[in-house]
Amino acid sequence: MRDTVTAPILNVRNLEAWYSESHILHGIDFEVRPGEVVTLLGRNGAGKSTTLKSIMGIIGKRKGSVVFEGQETIRLSSDRIARLGIAFCPEERGIFASLDVKENLMLPPVIRGGGMSVEHIFELFPNLHERLGSQGTKLSGGEQQMLAIARILRTGSRFLMLDEPTEGLAPVIIQQIGRMISRLKEEGFTILLVEQNFRFASTVADRFYIIEHGKVIDAFANAELQANMEKLHAYLGV
Ligand SMILES: Nc1ncnc2c1ncn2[C@@H]1O[C@H](COP(=O)(O)OP(=O)(O)O)[C@@H](O)[C@H]1O
Ligand SMILES: [Mg+2]
Repeated sequence: MRDTVTAPILNVRNLEAWYSESHILHGIDFEVRPGEVVTLLGRNGAGKSTTLKSIMGIIGKRKGSVVFEGQETIRLSSDRIARLGIAFCPEERGIFASLDVKENLMLPPVIRGGGMSVEHIFELFPNLHERLGSQGTKLSGGEQQMLAIARILRTGSRFLMLDEPTEGLAPVIIQQIGRMISRLKEEGFTILLVEQNFRFASTVADRFYIIEHGKVIDAFANAELQANMEKLHAYLGV
């Protein structure tokens, strides 16, 4: 059992968010402790991506409390938040088609010491190494996803938010991504994952939160997953 008195690395309380006039998040509450993999599950449109964007500060308006490593971030700009050491890999992946693998990799600024070296990254992602000079457009979906994750490891952030990294990928690639997430966890990274694929999430996550209509409606540990399967099917409509 994880020590529940460990202070959270991320503590989200009563988070609300808007896209112009549309009120999307209605008071999200959850926390992530150092070294955990925590997964946000929920149906399409529930507010999972909006939650990550709100933590990152890239949303029209947000309110509530987002404390990262003891510091309140709700009034900080997105670049200040990134500099605290929160890295975000969006659903769209954001690989530049006209840049090659190395150029895409070198794109984000290193924000603090301790970032992963390019050698270490290629050890984690050997297939990216083989594709070093390939243009973004020539990469498969799986390779683009790997590159999008690899890219944020260089920055020195130890807290990673990954939005649906398995979306649209073949089972064998999903397994590779699962192994990579487990490896990052072993190396001490803390990961907040958004997934629709709870079977995949159950192979890597310590705990789950269910989001529905912009609120957290349930939470359980991985060990409680089997006991909650019926509820989970109902929540996710699968
Ligand atoms: N840029 C945007 N402008 C207005 N509404 C948006 C925007 N992005 C998402 N939404 C709306 O916010 C809600 C939550 O979306 P999102 O967080 O992307 O859901 P999820 O990631 O759980 O599928 C949806 O109703 C969606 O239509
Ligand atoms: Mg989403």
